[in-house]
Amino acid sequence: MKAVNVGLLGVGTVGGGTLEVLRRNADEISARAGRTIRVVKAAVRDVTRARSVSMDGIALTADPFEIVGDPGIDIVVELLGGEDIAKQAVLQAVDNGKHVVTANKALIALHGNTIFEHAQRRGVMVAFEAAVAGGIPIIKSIREGLAANRIEWLAGIINGTSNYILSMMEAEGSDFDGALKQAQALGYAEADPQFDIAGTDAAHKLTILASIAFGIPLQFERVYVQGITAITLTDIIYARELGYRIKPLGLARRTAEGLELRVHPTLIPQPCLLANVDGVMNAILVRADAVGTTLYYGAGAGAEPTASSVVADLVDVVRAITTDPENRVPHLAFQPGLLAAAPMLSIEQIETAYYMRLNVLNRPGVLAAITKIFGDSDISLETVLQKGFPKDSDPESRSRSRPEHGKSNQRVTIIMLTQKTRERNFSVALKKLSQLEAVDDNIVRIRLENLS
Ligand code: NDP
Ligand code: HSE
Repeated sequence: MKAVNVGLLGVGTVGGGTLEVLRRNADEISARAGRTIRVVKAAVRDVTRARSVSMDGIALTADPFEIVGDPGIDIVVELLGGEDIAKQAVLQAVDNGKHVVTANKALIALHGNTIFEHAQRRGVMVAFEAAVAGGIPIIKSIREGLAANRIEWLAGIINGTSNYILSMMEAEGSDFDGALKQAQALGYAEADPQFDIAGTDAAHKLTILASIAFGIPLQFERVYVQGITAITLTDIIYARELGYRIKPLGLARRTAEGLELRVHPTLIPQPCLLANVDGVMNAILVRADAVGTTLYYGAGAGAEPTASSVVADLVDVVRAITTDPENRVPHLAFQPGLLAAAPMLSIEQIETAYYMRLNVLNRPGVLAAITKIFGDSDISLETVLQKGFPKDSDPESRSRSRPEHGKSNQRVTIIMLTQKTRERNFSVALKKLSQLEAVDDNIVRIRLENLS
């Protein structure tokens, strides 16, 4: 049978890995796909630069649109990253009747609804397994493997760079910036690593997961996003002492009132499997009504793990090329006309537990005043721990309370875990706490999920 011609947009970390895997496993891949897959053309910014992977037999261009307009190309693999050129190129490829494989989560989360509409109209596939959790086949698992189920919630470590940074801080005492540099050198980080550490990349991925899990359109703007930049080694150590680990978590849950979609650092109990996912590894727990809880684990970033998903999509597309477009697996799992709107909760409406660290004056009555605020707000405390004031604490935190004559100005650190409460309730209590003269301003609050 005639070979399938592929045009590759981007030969960076993932593009290079994809070429490598396609070459190394060529025979096995074509035996699975039923046809030979041949990369005939590739686009890069700098065509003169030497590449770590051989470009023999591949025509190079600096113009991605030359590839999407080439009638000899059957499948376009978009591995450029970013939104602008990638969006134009993918839409043009689709409109030109080409199937597309992409690893670009920003593109799918922000423009997927439009792209899939075009693809549906043109009868082509747009596959995006590599866009979520690198090498883990999570899209296929939810979209196809769990098709019998009503999915209740899913929770995952879905940004390898953030997990790598927090793991290195905890395991080796690395500083944040040093760990980020290492993640960049290993090819894990986005071109702009702010996307990783500010939680945006995980929010892109959660948008996609929520859509295929709950049958809703892609709605990135509804995700609450908080990154890992405020996490310090101090909190990592206290959390561990209390039996928890701090992980960058993405969580999507159905509740009676609506859907909650959130990304933030989270304390997770140490015995929980997710708490033990370290380095660049990702894992996603999915709770569904028929199967119960399933766990998906693997490398969340890097050249070949991500290429594994890209090539799997290529094989899927090649197998499906001859299938009736109306009877293919729908892009977002549910038939396009049956994607339903669902109410979404704001972060203030969600329920979760909290870890809190506050520096307070070591005087009688202070702890009582703090616990009274929680009692008045109907928030139950799970654990209260008092520690000496850490030496590396922010000196500005001392500025609020002045020494009172005859009274101690010594500080202590209080660590508290609360039971589950509504975020709105907790925010009110937090505001009252911050108004206490004896409590320093820099209260640390990290959400905690038992994932049970
Ligand atoms: P890189 O920055 O390593 O590679 C990007 C490639 O695209 C380079 O070859 C670059 O050319 C080329 N390129 C960029 N802009 C243009 C342009 N305007 N015209 C022509 N070529 C261009 O990115 P990654 O491989 O890391 O990421 C690619 C995509 O995969 C992104 O969407 C990313 O989010 C996603 N992804 C990345 C993962 C990872 O582990 N890195 C994991 C999962 C998904 P040149 O080489 O000349 O600079
Ligand atoms: N920058 C991303 C991460 C790449 O660190 O998870 C994989 O999507």
